[in-house]
Amino acid sequence: MKDKFISLYEKNHSKKDDERLGLFQRLNDEYSIKKALYPGSYAHITPIFVFPAVIFNDVYKKLQKFFDSDEVFKYINKRKIYSEEPFYSYICEDYNKELPLEKKSFDLLISQYAGFISRACRHYLKIGGILVVNNSHGDASMASISPDYEFSAVINKRDKKFTLSTRNLEEYFIPKKKIEITEEFLEKYMRGVGYTKTATDYVFKRTC
Ligand SMILES: C[S@@+](CC[C@H](N)C(=O)[O-])C[C@H]1O[C@@H](n2cnc3c(N)ncnc32)[C@H](O)[C@@H]1O
Repeated sequence: MKDKFISLYEKNHSKKDDERLGLFQRLNDEYSIKKALYPGSYAHITPIFVFPAVIFNDVYKKLQKFFDSDEVFKYINKRKIYSEEPFYSYICEDYNKELPLEKKSFDLLISQYAGFISRACRHYLKIGGILVVNNSHGDASMASISPDYEFSAVINKRDKKFTLSTRNLEEYFIPKKKIEITEEFLEKYMRGVGYTKTATDYVFKRTC
């Protein structure tokens, strides 16, 4: 019988064709990333297949057993694309609170369908570090209005392939309706704003 923890990952990701492995591989090809932070990760362990050190975070206590499981460790070792031993751990905490992590110590901050991570967790990202964010909960919009980030690239998924582009970035984050995008507006709205041009994911660099 399939291990219950591996089944949890497969049910949520591989079986739904939603591992997003190509997303992390594309980022790995483009940027120098060793250490990633993934707040609101749930059981989405795909980044540790690509990056040798990942800190996962969510509010669910039951996920500690998932991340401590020998089966998950074996599965990660089977899937990883780098030679070293994977280093990962799980922090069970609200990411809006202070996490037991060193400031400016991560190369990559991952924000996927889990709220305003770009704002709450930016301190953990190195200056020059990368934020990858989708706009499902409005977090890409939040990053786009932050003075701490510079919009650097878009990533699009087409025919199961993830492509990265740095061209025509000025065409993104233009609202279809005449509205002023502020932090207060996004907090109230909590979903992607309607823009004239959109991407699957957005890449920002922490500037200060
Ligand atoms: C829709 S799931 C997305 C999971 C994963 N990021 C993915 O893309 O498959 C959102 C997750 O974010 C977590 N989350 C939301 N707010 C959070 C917070 N303030 N602190 C930590 N985790 C949070 C939820 O518990 C949930 O597991």
